[in-house]
Amino acid sequence: AKIREYNWEVKYEYKSPDCFRKQVITINGLSPGPTILAQQGDTVIVNVKNKLITESFAIHWHGIRQRGTPWSDGTAWVTQCPIGPGDTVTYEFKADRPGTYVYHAHYGMQRTAGLYGSIQVSLPDGVEEPFAYDFDQSILLNDWYHQSTSAQATGLTSIPYMWVGEPQSLLIQGKGKFNCSSVTLPTNICNTTNPECSPYVITVIPGKTYRLRIASLTALSALSFQIEGHKMTVVEADGYNVEPFEVDKLYIYSGETYSVIVKADRDPSRNYWATTNVISRHPNTPPGLAIFNYEPNEPQQSPPTVPPAGPVWNDTADQFAQSQALKARQGYIHTPPPTSDRTLVFLTTQNTINGYTRWAVNNVSLDTPETPFLIALKYNLPNAMDQTPPPDTYDSLNYDINNVAKNKNATSSTAIYRLKFNTTVDVIMQNANTMKISHSETHPWHLHGHDFWVLGNGIGKFDLKEDTKKFNLVNPVMKNTVPVFPFGWTALRFQADNPGVWAFHCHLEPHFYLGMGVAFEAGVEKVGKLPSFIMGCGQGRGL
Ligand code: C2O
Ligand code: CU
Repeated sequence: AKIREYNWEVKYEYKSPDCFRKQVITINGLSPGPTILAQQGDTVIVNVKNKLITESFAIHWHGIRQRGTPWSDGTAWVTQCPIGPGDTVTYEFKADRPGTYVYHAHYGMQRTAGLYGSIQVSLPDGVEEPFAYDFDQSILLNDWYHQSTSAQATGLTSIPYMWVGEPQSLLIQGKGKFNCSSVTLPTNICNTTNPECSPYVITVIPGKTYRLRIASLTALSALSFQIEGHKMTVVEADGYNVEPFEVDKLYIYSGETYSVIVKADRDPSRNYWATTNVISRHPNTPPGLAIFNYEPNEPQQSPPTVPPAGPVWNDTADQFAQSQALKARQGYIHTPPPTSDRTLVFLTTQNTINGYTRWAVNNVSLDTPETPFLIALKYNLPNAMDQTPPPDTYDSLNYDINNVAKNKNATSSTAIYRLKFNTTVDVIMQNANTMKISHSETHPWHLHGHDFWVLGNGIGKFDLKEDTKKFNLVNPVMKNTVPVFPFGWTALRFQADNPGVWAFHCHLEPHFYLGMGVAFEAGVEKVGKLPSFIMGCGQGRGL
């Protein structure tokens, strides 16, 4: 195993990823940042210098389990204090599983400012994937707002509430195209001929086979991705091989990663569109366009066709069908324990607290503590956080998930779930109506520090007796992020075998920012000495 060391400088720069100029957080001048490449078993070391001048940050390595290094998870207020301006910190962790992962800012809604990138972990020398390809390429999908992160955050936490709205653009590998003529802005601020926002180009050699590692880090949008005229075979999801299935469009939710195999086997005399569209919310954002370029055609040559129309945005049945199609690949099945030791049923709702709009789990909205949970629990600082445990379930007999709640109020708390080390935990995610009539959203839930089995999902209210019987215990896929569909439920199982404190939250930035998440502690007494770089706030100072 090798050591892969990276030196990064994080700073604000003016960029025009979708032709509109705004302040973007870059890593070594780039957004998306550099791709981290490692082989299974390697140690990754990232030295990061904060040159944001007036802002702190934290960087999360999404999908990396951080076994033995829970302090490197990079989650502000959960595993560390934010890193202040001028500081340099070192994240160190093992790339212990092969697959496709990402990294991104995990402090406030800072991910939306452009601090994100790809992680590829390849197999050790001599070990082969169960699928063949000639070339390997990462493609990051994102949605993009012109408003600054702090303006958005201020609006969300104000009375009256100011919703961030739909994104202005969709970016493919950091490039999109906003229609500058739809607004009156000088050309130094918005200029569609700026080469910075020329479409991203995926260049292919006719006849060759490509592994595209597609990841979504959207703030809000669920997406579909397709390549005009080409079928894609899904082979990997969140670092696990899945039973291959063919799609002409891939649905992907924020925090998910997929590998698809694409053959460059169409008429090579022209280019094709690669497109991404908003699904699950009424789209108010034009599709993102990239060019699937056959050599030796001119890379920027527009395909002669109009871009393919995306799928119908609210075809939940079709989106659900893709989730149902995901199964662990034969020969790569990790069989789940047959039963669980504890079942948590999490009703997720939109609420108000003292007139503020929030999101909650079992009526408790997560507040950020002044001392990160990992520090508070490792050092046993009882007054650093609320002690009343949040509820394991909700009043499922009397709660109507299909209508606006009669009582929209929730409470907020810095209490977390303490799990018994090495036990098996089921989490049933139950979606519900929002505060708007006949309205429910898709929420992608992401677990830090673990992968979970997806045992089932359905539409309607989860029936503890009947639906549990239908769990897939034979070949469930393992993931770290999974969508919960409107008015639906998703059932997960995981083993609390990683000492530390771990966030589990909706991956939509405004939702998590407004409290849509929990934290799980297990085996914190087994955690080694915490490094000082995470300790610069709250009661962690000087410990
Ligand atoms: Cu990719 Cu806690 O997030
Ligand atoms: Cu959400």
